[in-house]
Amino acid sequence: MTILGCFTVPVGEYQMEAAKAAPLCDKLKKIFFEKESLGSTFKNKTYRSTQKGNIFESTFDIFNWHDPAIDELSDHIRTHLKLFLGSITTLNPLQINSLKFNFHPWYHITRNGGRQGMHNHSNSSWSGIFCIDPGEKIESMPDSGVVYFHDPRANANMYEDDGLKHLKGEFAHGVMRIEHVAGRLLFFPSYLYHEIFPYFGKTERVVVAFNCRITLPENS
Ligand SMILES: [Fe+2]
Repeated sequence: MTILGCFTVPVGEYQMEAAKAAPLCDKLKKIFFEKESLGSTFKNKTYRSTQKGNIFESTFDIFNWHDPAIDELSDHIRTHLKLFLGSITTLNPLQINSLKFNFHPWYHITRNGGRQGMHNHSNSSWSGIFCIDPGEKIESMPDSGVVYFHDPRANANMYEDDGLKHLKGEFAHGVMRIEHVAGRLLFFPSYLYHEIFPYFGKTERVVVAFNCRITLPENS
């Protein structure tokens, strides 16, 4: 029996080793808190109906800030996006290396009560999240700050008898639940709807997120 995966949604995941992630995340957090403390200078002023509560969203240009820690993160994301695309596309290694990436990267600092309703990331092909600090874990509230990705097959659960509701792994219906871990990088298609459950904690939850538009130059 051959099982064919039709319409599968690829999500990439890479966990940076702790010895590398810890100092990088510390440096990034320091930069991000400093920028936030400058008031509106680095704050994104776009109103978003899906953002509620205590969330600071930066401008979408953080890879242009020319700081060694941000450059390290930018290189890390670019390198792993190439590896990801090399695995899931028909592009050959030379073509992967010649891809032009147009990143729109930002960061979020979420404090107690901050949340984001369901949304996708329009006008890009691939998006991602790099966790700097997942914030405080509260045992009695396991969904605090958790990301839920929603199945884009809107009718996939129209009839859930025992032949369908027990599907496993990539064939399952419903949601994919992601608990952030410092140093973990995720890639997902920008069309994929997701939401961030309300975060409850005394410390800040900090992530970098990005959208990316990708072009293969002619004759590549
Ligand atoms: Fe998002």
